[in-house]
Amino acid sequence: MITISDNIYHITDGKYSYAFFVKDGKLVHSYYGKALPVDKARMKSSALNALSVHSFGYDWMPFEVGERGRGDFRIPSAAVSGNGFTSTDFLFESAEVLDDKPSLNMPSLRGKAQTLAVTLKDAVAGLELKLYYTVYDGALARHTEIKNIGKLPVTLCTLDSACTELDIGDYDYISLDGRWGAECGVSRQSVAYGVHTLSSSRGVTSHQHNPFLAVLDKDATEHSGDVYGFNLIYSGNFAARMERDEKSRVRVNFGAQIAEGGISLEVGESFVSPELVSVYTDEGVGGMSRIFHKLYRTRLIDPRFADKPRPIVVNSWESVYFDFDEQKLKRFIDGANGLGIDTVVLDDGWFGKRDSDNCSLGDWIIDRRKLPNGLKAVIDHCKKNGMKFGIWFEPEAISPNSDLYRAHPGWAISTVGRKGIEMRNQYVLDFSNPQVVDYVFEAMRKILAEHEILYVKWDMNRGLSDVPNGKLYFGYVRGVYELYDRLSHEFPNVLIEGCSSGGGRFDPAILYYSPMIWASDDTDAHERTKIQYGLSLCYPLQTLSNHVSVCPNHQSARTTPFDTRGAVASLGCLGYELNVAEISEDEREKIKKQIETYKADRNLILTGELYRLRNPFASDIFCEQVAAEDGSEAYVVAVNTLNKVNLPIGKIKLKGLDENALYSVKELNAQLSGAELMYDGLQPEFRNDFSANIWHIKKLTNKR
Ligand code: DGJ
Repeated sequence: MITISDNIYHITDGKYSYAFFVKDGKLVHSYYGKALPVDKARMKSSALNALSVHSFGYDWMPFEVGERGRGDFRIPSAAVSGNGFTSTDFLFESAEVLDDKPSLNMPSLRGKAQTLAVTLKDAVAGLELKLYYTVYDGALARHTEIKNIGKLPVTLCTLDSACTELDIGDYDYISLDGRWGAECGVSRQSVAYGVHTLSSSRGVTSHQHNPFLAVLDKDATEHSGDVYGFNLIYSGNFAARMERDEKSRVRVNFGAQIAEGGISLEVGESFVSPELVSVYTDEGVGGMSRIFHKLYRTRLIDPRFADKPRPIVVNSWESVYFDFDEQKLKRFIDGANGLGIDTVVLDDGWFGKRDSDNCSLGDWIIDRRKLPNGLKAVIDHCKKNGMKFGIWFEPEAISPNSDLYRAHPGWAISTVGRKGIEMRNQYVLDFSNPQVVDYVFEAMRKILAEHEILYVKWDMNRGLSDVPNGKLYFGYVRGVYELYDRLSHEFPNVLIEGCSSGGGRFDPAILYYSPMIWASDDTDAHERTKIQYGLSLCYPLQTLSNHVSVCPNHQSARTTPFDTRGAVASLGCLGYELNVAEISEDEREKIKKQIETYKADRNLILTGELYRLRNPFASDIFCEQVAAEDGSEAYVVAVNTLNKVNLPIGKIKLKGLDENALYSVKELNAQLSGAELMYDGLQPEFRNDFSANIWHIKKLTNKR
């Protein structure tokens, strides 16, 4: 609900409140936290309201827009320069409450939702700035739009999606940082005095920094305390900047990052920021995650796929890499038959002359040397064996050694006069050029329209370099969304799995189109506990594409028990990445059993509430529990690292159950009350390195 009364702009979903007021033409922030009645929000504002914004300069007031050059010396959230000015002075013009959010022309939270639109103007600079606040259950979504209403072009240096001012306090921040094979490491640091930045200037979302940030009370934990979570619905360059000022107030600016030097904003031109989702909870980091998860399940993920079972795939990559032909694939398909697998996915190597990663990207034409009877023979073989077929593309890439590059060298992003930098022997196509998007769409459309393909893995294996100007970064991302839109529209039943050298493109905008994303190329069960734990901070389990792979693991060379690999992969969308034509009878039996159990638990895993009970970054044990929202059942996986002799291991206390009800614990053949499970806990037993405990908990009666 949004109310405007007595100059208090109050946004609330009943659980959080966000409030500001107008003073001397400026939007002064007054409150963000647990829901307040309007009159309390008014009281919070009145102390600030008594003071003139100008009396001490702009330096210490909390604002809805951080501006440059007029005495607010903190980080700006909107900065523009033009002929004769580098400062702005945006003043309130009007505000209206809309029944719905105006379209951003890029992914944002779905569905009708009440929105506050505030218009500000700077007459001297000739600029109009609009701030949008949209209320969702548990979350506030914000974006901004700037328009050049003057007579001359200006340079837009910064336009964040939101400036969020947090009250005086002692805060930590959590970010998800990593590298290839180790995505989304959780790091928690102090918000010390000064400016702290998390960003990506790779042109695409990266392994290095996820567009996520949580700022939390120093004493907040996984299970309690004030947490503010932020996640940008965008797949390009971003920056999250925090500044702790001399009064220990923290300003958080978050948005798409504009390249150094800025971008021009021509007369009459507008620029719209992506949407920033912000979440407040007093239930700790876990509470924040549960809000994000529910929000994304109900308002972000394509309803065609949200909360629905995902296919159980076997992917060819680690089994055959580039080395396959029709016969080999048929043996692979024969091997997959009878295991419970739904879909066989043919990864890289089926097109052009791609025997290694040094050629053919862009030439999306079936390689008849490997597949003389085309994909059709392979697909027919899948169908004969009762399975569906999926295929890999890297739509945004072009190999210098490709027919496409020879025909259109200008379609690769490049700077005139320089040879482009190759990474993984490839360039990036200029998706800001509509001709390029048309070409890639047609090439993919041909393959998808001519074959029965219900699954696409969309990969992307490098960052952007040699970019000739800052605007291209935005055009590029828009081009990617355009291709996604066209494919989703033309092939509504095709599920597109996101991927970028593993989990390098885990962002909410990709999730808008891709209901699941390959979480990492590192499929080692031990390493995966950390990667999946980190991802789960803001992304629901139903978006994590996890595969059981062969051991010794191709990345870590480690051997972990088959059951543990299955248990870890089950915390998301289960799949396989091993040569099913060559596995032992024992492994076949294990896969069958894993899939059978997973299918029975799948609905709970994909739609339940996640509780992280042991942090693998902080202890030798990983434990996650998924509980049904009504507390009727739960699924728990606990995994250790190296087995330690005589190590005292505490019980694991479950969450989200009904303390008065009686539950069965299948694996222990026991009946325990919710109170016992939550307050006394279950004792894990680890007899080997990297071993797993799995507990299925089911409510028997409402009374213990
Ligand atoms: C990187 C992906 O993460 C892998 O799963 C695989 O698809 C390769 N690319 C193929 O080149």
